[in-house]
Amino acid sequence: MKLVKTQDGSFTAFNEAAKEHYHSISGALEEAFEKHVNALGVEDGFHILDFCFGLGYNSIAATKDHKNLKIIGLENDLEIIRAIQNLEVPDSIKPEFAAFRNLAEKLEITDKNNNTIKLIIGDALQTIDQLPADFFDRVFFDPFSPQKQPEMWSAEIFQKVYDKMKSGGKLSTYSCAKWIRVNMKIAGFTVLDGPRVGRKSPATIAIKH
Ligand SMILES: C[S@@+](CC[C@H](N)C(=O)[O-])C[C@H]1O[C@@H](n2cnc3c(N)ncnc32)[C@H](O)[C@@H]1O
Repeated sequence: MKLVKTQDGSFTAFNEAAKEHYHSISGALEEAFEKHVNALGVEDGFHILDFCFGLGYNSIAATKDHKNLKIIGLENDLEIIRAIQNLEVPDSIKPEFAAFRNLAEKLEITDKNNNTIKLIIGDALQTIDQLPADFFDRVFFDPFSPQKQPEMWSAEIFQKVYDKMKSGGKLSTYSCAKWIRVNMKIAGFTVLDGPRVGRKSPATIAIKH
């Protein structure tokens, strides 16, 4: 796996099979904060689903200045989780990463602010079924692109994610493809434009009412 420095100084990975970077090259950490954490708003004690955990930027960014978060990450590739161990990160997020460096070994870690990240390793299309219904306040939805992984963006998967969310819960994702927004609506979500970060087109926010 190849690590690539993005324009905000944080590193992303390049996946050879998908032929895609894990983040926008305009900034991996910027993407985590602007398209996910700040776009949705996170409060202490929230339950968060990180659907496609990767290097963990979205979850680890969420722990900054928060306490008592319960985060569950779904990921099928232990190699990318192992890469967190030695990942060089900007100073602004160093203490938060320091707490979660050993995730590949422990799979569940609680930091000093009582934020817990628990990983479930396996195909997210299946492991999602293990999660409790009406549980999550926030979902960071971050698979590879709809072109590369259409199966991750189906109405059926959005329906499963919807069922796991509390009413009032919000989901963020970087894609604004028309057909994925149609699938979100079929699942019951209200769909809004998310922020424009690093490119002209908006991200997407989906709300369960
Ligand atoms: C765009 S990257 C996610 C980036 C990640 N959120 C981060 O901050 O590094 C997509 C991730 O989805 C994972 N993935 C792909 N297919 C999956 C599947 N079927 N089940 C679980 N994880 C999957 C990949 O291994 C990769 O880590």
